[in-house]
Amino acid sequence: MPMKFAIGQRARLGIGLLLPQSGLYAGVGQSIANGLNLALAKTSGRLAGREVRLIIADDGSDAATAAANAQRLIQVEKVDVLVGAVHSDSAQGMVKVARDRAIPIIIANAGWNAATGAFCAPNLFRTSFTNWQVNWPMGKVAVDRNYRRVATITWRYTAGTEMIGAFEENFTRLGGTIVQRIQMPFPQMDFAPHLATLAAAQPDAIMAFFAGAGARQFITDYAQSPLKDVPLLGPGFLTEGVRDLPAAEGILTTLHYANALNMPANRRFRAQYSETYGRPADVYAVQGYDSGQLIAHAVEAMKGDTVNRAGLITAMETARIDSPRGSFILSKAHNPVQDIYLRQIRNGEEIVLGIAQRALADPATGCKMAK
Ligand code: BEZ
Repeated sequence: MPMKFAIGQRARLGIGLLLPQSGLYAGVGQSIANGLNLALAKTSGRLAGREVRLIIADDGSDAATAAANAQRLIQVEKVDVLVGAVHSDSAQGMVKVARDRAIPIIIANAGWNAATGAFCAPNLFRTSFTNWQVNWPMGKVAVDRNYRRVATITWRYTAGTEMIGAFEENFTRLGGTIVQRIQMPFPQMDFAPHLATLAAAQPDAIMAFFAGAGARQFITDYAQSPLKDVPLLGPGFLTEGVRDLPAAEGILTTLHYANALNMPANRRFRAQYSETYGRPADVYAVQGYDSGQLIAHAVEAMKGDTVNRAGLITAMETARIDSPRGSFILSKAHNPVQDIYLRQIRNGEEIVLGIAQRALADPATGCKMAK
């Protein structure tokens, strides 16, 4: 007997993609979209027999644009699933308007802690990381390397504040001292004067978060600054797509992914990605790919019935994703429980030095579902 569906169920399945279309994070958004498309290509762009339609809108790298466009995707385009955003402030705008709409929302990058903390919700999922999760382990890495006096620099917005805050939390708990803190307005890239200020504090190492085109500029400027011989630490976003820069040599990072992971799922993914897009995959592409895998798993489990939201959500909650980063499940708060790798750029290659923290779950502070 063929399955019965509510009216329109055999119609196309709409996925709204809320990603930056311009600015420093445009490349990040493109990688996420590429990764998602690659996952959908496995079933020739169809899920449970339904053709998939992607509708792209700008996350604007700010909360107001993201909120307006998320609303349009839901109310006007009537998407079945919403995927976004890159910027932590955009994620706040998106969550504000979409959280009570019952459609599944998948955060494919933004690390805003509270999305899977105080603002967690049954329909809100993340396939990426929390800002806390990828930076907290670096506190111990720094202490283990005998970096006792560290100075920090980042952009002054949610991601920067939370990432550096997580590092500081663990680093100072283990006896380290923060000797200087700099936060610059996003998306300012006038790094040179700030690097001089950091150097004056004579730190053992620098901890920095910048991403996208900003990371490239920061690393270039760092190598020409008085800090050039001071070890540079950061979350892995700092060295995404910059291996070609001689200035990236030696940078030590923690992240939930590494290009060199020697696992079948990663080798397959990287080969398909570079064959399809003519460029190497990055962590953002992995997150887009895993968002596609999560949607595919749930829609196939529900045999295409996306009107049954509760069923769709349960299927997502119980998924195990065979990710290029290593297989993962979602926590009760809907954030990946994942290994955090320690990586370093050596001779122009990103080397995996080991696992900084195994199966790390975000504490999900304030999330009632996590209890
Ligand atoms: C964020 O805003 O959450 C973010 C942006 C780029 C890379 C990582 C995190």
